[in-house]
This record gives sequence, C-alpha cells and structure tokens, in this order.
Amino acid sequence: MSAAPFDQRDGWIWYDGQFVPWRDAQVHVLTHGLHYGSSVFEGERAYGGVVFKSREHSERLKKSGQILDFEIPFTVAEIDAAKLAVIEKNGLKDAYLRPVAWRGSEMMGVAAQHNKIHLAIATWEWPSYFDPAQKMKGIRLDMADYRRPDPATAPSTAKAAGLYMICTISKHRAERRGYADALMLDWQGRVAECTGANVFFIRDGVVHTPTADCFLDGITRQTVIELAKRRGFEVAERRIMPDELGSFTECFITGTAAEVTPVSEVGAHTYVPGEMTKILMDDYSAEVLPKAKAA
Ligand SMILES: Cc1ncc(COP(=O)(O)O)c(C=O)c1O
Repeated sequence: MSAAPFDQRDGWIWYDGQFVPWRDAQVHVLTHGLHYGSSVFEGERAYGGVVFKSREHSERLKKSGQILDFEIPFTVAEIDAAKLAVIEKNGLKDAYLRPVAWRGSEMMGVAAQHNKIHLAIATWEWPSYFDPAQKMKGIRLDMADYRRPDPATAPSTAKAAGLYMICTISKHRAERRGYADALMLDWQGRVAECTGANVFFIRDGVVHTPTADCFLDGITRQTVIELAKRRGFEVAERRIMPDELGSFTECFITGTAAEVTPVSEVGAHTYVPGEMTKILMDDYSAEVLPKAKAA
C-alpha cells in the first residue's frame, strides 16, 4: 500500500456543520455506530466540481437513516450545500464524496433512543477511471458464498454499514482467488448484485438486470436504465436465475465508484464486452459531466 492511510491525510472534513482539520475528525471508541452498526453512508462523485445526482444521494442518505430509526439533523438542501462546500474547501473538482451518519456515544446498549446523530462528509481526489480500451477488457467476477438477505431479515434497501459485512468478506475471498469482485445471489438464489455495484447482462440486443427488491437500487443503475431506454434498447428488469448466466453475451456492473465497468467472466461463464456495453459506458461518461447552465 503506497497511499497514506485515510486517517493520516491533510485537508478538511465537514463534521456536524463545521470544517474540521482532516486528522482531527475523530470518534470515540464508545460510539454506538461502531458497536451496533448504527451507521449509514453514501458514495458519490463530483465531476468538474458538480456532484452527480447530489439530491438523489442526499435523499437516499436521509431515507437510510430513517430505515435505521434515526433522523439525520440536516435537510437534503443543507447536505447538498455541505458537499459542495467541502469539495471547494479541499480545492477538488473530480472527487469522491463520503457522507456518513451515525449514532453517537450517549447510550451504549442496543437501545439508543437519545443518542446524538452525527453527520460527516469527507472527500478525496478520485479521477474517473483509466483508459476505455483497457476497461473494455472487462473484469472477472467470482461467485460469492454469502447471499443478499431477505428484506424481512435486514433493512436491505438502506445503504447501511452493517449490510457491508458480508460484502467485505465476499470481496476478500474473491480477491484471494484472483478475481476483481464477487457476484452475490439473493436469499432466494436469484442473481442479485456485486459487493458494491449492480449488475447487467445483454442478450440478443436486450438489456437484462435483476429486480432491485432486496438490494440497493443504485443511482447509477437507475441512470443506466434510463440511458438504455433513451437509446431505444429494451430493458428487462426481472428475476434472473444463475442457470441463465451462460446464455448472456455481455455483462457489466454499475455503481458510483465502478461507473459502467465491463465484465469478462462470472465464475465459469465468459463474456466479450461489446458494442452495447461500450455505448452505455460512453453515454454514462457523457451524462455525468456537468451540464452547461441554460442561458
Ligand atoms: C452494495 C451496492 N450495490 C449497488 C451499488 C451501486 O449504487 P450507486 O449506483 O448508487 O452508487 C453500491 C454502491 O454504492 C453498493 O455498495
């Protein structure tokens, strides 16, 4: 690892409404969010100084908190403004943003009705990925052992830190086995998503993606569906079983970090990233660029 650890960098973090020097933006070890997973977060990107779909991300953050039974004490408009302020304060234009909200330290037990809800927003440079020709080679996905949980078992639509426990375990296992990431099934054995991205397939000119009924309905996923429809591509959001994986010809994953990333392998199945993947990758790259303000 060559880059400095994330707690030992310079810059400013927006923390409960104030700018705090990066290294001072700390929590106590007796923080409810750390012990009981009462934490929700977002991953966002700014392109040219504009946060892509900022309001949608702020709304999802607020909603994730509500699902975990807490109210983030800032409005969507205040969170949007804080994101712009923090990228500007750090002198960034093309950046990743990490808003995170968590229950504080007032009570240290399962019940934490009166704990203060904190919100911090960090940002760091993260230029949009490497060259498209390289990217078109595609990444290799392993099959994960863990499954996305039944919505009756976990708050599966929230972007809650606790739901990432099985993602980290699955991604570590995939990396140890030489893959870039892992594809997870859901609790019913249907194809679901990757550890930090949604998944799409292409066959006979039709774009297929699993119905987001027990995993994150990614903002990139929604954007790519809209872009595909704009292109006149048929999009089938449906139940996809693993025995169908061999019948698709193209595959790609979507997410704020991954953007649109072609996939060359899922377990035993191989794909050749092709024209439709390339079109959607390029359309997404164009879509995220700040739009010129109307005169
Ligand atoms: C588990 C998971 N699924 C899907 C996504 C894609 O979501 P988005 O496109 O909103 O970044 C992410 C990334 O945040 C994720 O962590």
